[in-house]
Amino acid sequence: MAGMDTDPTLGRAVDFINKLKNEFNWQNLSGETIMDIGCGETFYCSQAIVHLFSDFKCLIVSDKSADLLRWRPPQSKLFENLQKNNIIKLLVADIENSVFFQDYIESVDKIVARNVLYQVNNKIQALRNIYTTLKPGGAAAILFWLDNPMGTWTNKILSTRKWSRYVDYSKPAPPSYFPSEFQEQSYRDEMQALGCREVYAVTRRKPCSYSSHEECQGQLLQIVDNIFSIPPERREECKEDCLRTFKQLVGCNNGGPITFNIIELFLHIVK
Ligand SMILES: C[S@@+](CC[C@H](N)C(=O)[O-])C[C@H]1O[C@@H](n2cnc3c(N)ncnc32)[C@H](O)[C@@H]1O
Repeated sequence: MAGMDTDPTLGRAVDFINKLKNEFNWQNLSGETIMDIGCGETFYCSQAIVHLFSDFKCLIVSDKSADLLRWRPPQSKLFENLQKNNIIKLLVADIENSVFFQDYIESVDKIVARNVLYQVNNKIQALRNIYTTLKPGGAAAILFWLDNPMGTWTNKILSTRKWSRYVDYSKPAPPSYFPSEFQEQSYRDEMQALGCREVYAVTRRKPCSYSSHEECQGQLLQIVDNIFSIPPERREECKEDCLRTFKQLVGCNNGGPITFNIIELFLHIVK
């Protein structure tokens, strides 16, 4: 079901990297430097890269969150060995920070940033930093939501005065969600204006639906419980509010099934 999780399996990351290998000329990464931006706590893309390629020179695994990079994937001896041998390097870096990326100008052959830019406010700046970091001839693959109603709804409920007072700051802050201001064509234009030799951009619409209103409500409550501590006496009211505001957002006002679309952009650029 379409929650705030984004393709949360290693298999999906392997499919993503395989697609780059088979359809975007990433077959041979021998001697190359690769960067995984926004690797997340599971390092899925990096693990997929390690699984599918053997003779790259260096894999820079990076994330904005220093906490994430303290995590070691215990199930992957290979990953650990590569790290010991300095082939995998961990880096704390914010992709929106262009000062930081000045140290990485034209230094990387391949970049992946999968399911990261939806958490970034200035996506154009992030894409400029990615472009700057690429060597001439290098390529980057970027996948992110342009729009996810579940994220918009979470922002909405966080901003209502009625419920925001119950945010529980002892719980980990939810990932920020910034819907895209732009559509595919603007990103394509921007990448071309920067000087990319090739730009491939495709928007995918992923239809989502719930089998019942209760299922939807359950999912919304899960999100709420991760962020808020709602007093028991207001729980019923909150439950009702959650479902009503979500149905309003996705335009389901007639009691019919709850359906909506997640809109995702895949960008592949060659510098
Ligand atoms: C959903 S996870 C991505 C998981 C991973 N890329 C994958 O394919 O499974 C999003 C990650 O992006 C990171 N992130 C968010 N904003 C970022 C930024 N400005 N710079 C770098 N990383 C960022 C978050 O810390 C989080 O770990």
